[in-house]
Amino acid sequence: DEMTREETLQYLNETVRPEEGVIPAYILADPTIYKLEHEKIFMKTWILLGHESELSQKNDYLTRDLAGYSVIITRSSDGELRAFYNMCTHRGMKLCRADKGNKANFTCPYHGFNFKNTGELIGVPLQNDIYGDKMDKSKMSLNKVTIATYKGLIFGTWNDNPQPLEDFLGDYKWYLDMVFGRTEMEVVGPPQKFIVHSNWKIGSDNFVSDSYHTMVTHGSIAALGMVPSATYSKRGYQVHTNNGHGCNIGMPNPDFAFPENLIDEYKANLSAAQFEMMSNLKNLIGTVFPNLSILVSHTKIKDQLISNTTMRLWKPVGPDKMEVMTWFLVEKGATEDWKERSREAYILTFSPSGIFEQDDTEVFTDITAAASGTMPYTKQLTYNYTMGMHREPVKDFPGPGVAYPDKFSEAGSRNFYRYWLDLMNS
Ligand code: FES
Ligand code: FE
Repeated sequence: DEMTREETLQYLNETVRPEEGVIPAYILADPTIYKLEHEKIFMKTWILLGHESELSQKNDYLTRDLAGYSVIITRSSDGELRAFYNMCTHRGMKLCRADKGNKANFTCPYHGFNFKNTGELIGVPLQNDIYGDKMDKSKMSLNKVTIATYKGLIFGTWNDNPQPLEDFLGDYKWYLDMVFGRTEMEVVGPPQKFIVHSNWKIGSDNFVSDSYHTMVTHGSIAALGMVPSATYSKRGYQVHTNNGHGCNIGMPNPDFAFPENLIDEYKANLSAAQFEMMSNLKNLIGTVFPNLSILVSHTKIKDQLISNTTMRLWKPVGPDKMEVMTWFLVEKGATEDWKERSREAYILTFSPSGIFEQDDTEVFTDITAAASGTMPYTKQLTYNYTMGMHREPVKDFPGPGVAYPDKFSEAGSRNFYRYWLDLMNS
């Protein structure tokens, strides 16, 4: 029997116990949980929409999904970014049906109302003839969507009184600065999209604290010599910050895997501690709550270690299904040869056809299937998230948040699910 919302919430609070390392399986597949997440998390927090470099020219636009609803993001002729609900204010047709493009006006495919990319309704076919002087076009502008940017990342929210984006990101900005603010980053090509039969939380959770799996799930990559060794994934730190965000910082690394010509710029844009960390970085893997995961990883291409930077959105499209969107980003000021090798590294590893990506999605799919059963005891299945509970945080870690002395810990997931539960209760 399906539980009511109230029963589900009560049951959640009894069974989700992040501080004890106990997470129940049913939260990955339960339809009521899925609905509650949509309402209490995805309709309330900041969700990634894209990157500013995807709208680098005046009149560029994108259509993206914000918690299941289509929005148009425009860079208008005044250079400003704006976002609108992708719905014509006449009778509700989806105004723009393309993924991206460049134009100053949008014409509705239903009756031809014409809107500027700043939102104003500027043209109505046969207006005087059919409406006389009764129509006030100034009252029919597109509905605005709240957006904010940080280091090129564009976030949107449906919350009409949101916490400021920078407060929501909080201490995690220190880590985002290294990934997206070390130099001007640009997205290469359109994002790739693919469907995975997995609950979205498995992706977020995997990136926020699961470095442990890399030894086994991705063991073949070490065997191929593309990454240093089978235990490559343990050394470094695991960090989590407020609001469920967290990351894993693999280090040390003797080889500098970033563009040499940008070192001075890195130094100028980062603090000494951040630059030091980047110089020693082997990889950085993390999640911005709820569903944006970020990654800087190093791969050997033609005997040379080279970094690639990607981000991915685990977009829920059902309790047991998500659409993954992945973006590849590169240092705008790098040489063409460096950019090409970095792209090759991305394609080999974390693109939809990449070795890592394919390894991971197999696991995500099987976990979701096992959690989706209708056997009477499905609700009693639990996961063990106790790894690293015996350890104390590092005292002299240079970055903000709570850091643990290596990457093998589930502290980041316990922090993720703590915030998840707080929002579900809100
Ligand atoms: Fe768009 Fe009528 S619904 S013009
Ligand atoms: Fe993985």
